[in-house]
Amino acid sequence: MRGLILSGGFGTRLRPLTYTGAKQLIPVANKPIIFYGIEALVDAGIKEIGIVIGDTAEEVKNTVGNGERWNITITYIPQEAPLGLAHAIKISKNFLKDEPFIMYLGDNLLKQGVYDLVKLFKNKKPNALILLTEVANPQEFGVAVVDEKGIVKKLIEKPKEPPSNFALVGVYLFDEVIFQAVEHLKPSWRNELEITDAIQWLLDNGFNVESQIVKGWWKDTGKPDDIIDANLLVLEDIKSSNKGTLIDSTIHGRVEIAEGAIIEKSIIRGPAIIGMNAKVSHAYIGPFSSIGDNVVIENSEIECSVIMEGAKINNLEKRIDRSIVGKNVVINQTDHSPRTHKFILGDQSYVQIIK
Ligand code: DAU
Repeated sequence: MRGLILSGGFGTRLRPLTYTGAKQLIPVANKPIIFYGIEALVDAGIKEIGIVIGDTAEEVKNTVGNGERWNITITYIPQEAPLGLAHAIKISKNFLKDEPFIMYLGDNLLKQGVYDLVKLFKNKKPNALILLTEVANPQEFGVAVVDEKGIVKKLIEKPKEPPSNFALVGVYLFDEVIFQAVEHLKPSWRNELEITDAIQWLLDNGFNVESQIVKGWWKDTGKPDDIIDANLLVLEDIKSSNKGTLIDSTIHGRVEIAEGAIIEKSIIRGPAIIGMNAKVSHAYIGPFSSIGDNVVIENSEIECSVIMEGAKINNLEKRIDRSIVGKNVVINQTDHSPRTHKFILGDQSYVQIIK
């Protein structure tokens, strides 16, 4: 069975982070989100994965590579524009060879992985197997109506008035009839070929669509708060290890410290992760924080936040909490009144400085 991971799209709800990077590459516990999807498929025994890419193609390719790191083969499938999840299937037909496959949205995280789902799909051989979970905000997802026996009756994409609280999770297993379904679709109001419409076509044409309820947590990392929550959920399972150097510092709870990291005169309270060559000095790193590679934190306090590689945070009076700080960002507080003037003055300005 082959895997299809979707890593195109714009990520508009994650701006400004996605102005300079793909949303699927945002790190959660110091690992790009898309790696969790790839690893879930690899754990289920999948050896050939296609990744649908769009505007951020180069970046995704550079970060993910050719699959060698997982001992699998990765094929990139360019999509001219984010024309929908069903469109992504349509353009992947050659790669998928008209055979059963699993599709995994590159911005989704699923604690249970996909091993059991792949097994169930292979045993029961439905035409489609979808995953559902109850959510408080169903209008933001594809929504399913299921009867009392758990049989799927209807699917609607982001309904204004949701008929149920069951959201469609971004993991789907299909056999070859999905290729027929996607040929019958028309673009939706948001000009996309919707996967919900494709599955609805299967239902309307008497095909067998099975559903499962998610065990454990699931996160669609569409918005900044979702990244912070996903980071928290992944760090819940982190194990202690220390490959760095501790100088006059205290570690409480489970903390993973990578090679070359230096923690000096600081307190780290886990669960937390500190990246390679990070420097933490006279600082407090609180629970659910991910400190990326080469980050420098001095005289500052961080809690429940994602600080990406190369960022520098100095002398902050107040704690940073539930925040996302992008790559190479500098946040610096100075207590001294400036001894220089900084001017950008237009022609004929008049400045008088009175001491
Ligand atoms: O996360 C679950 C939800 O994912 C489902 O409940 C919805 O039914 C489903 O439509 C989808 O909704 P989103 O609005 O969250 O999808 P999004 O546009 O964020 O795209 C999901 C992933 O697929 C993301 O990694 C970008 C990628 N993508 C998206 C489109 C539209 C592509 O690669 N190509 C595309 O054309």
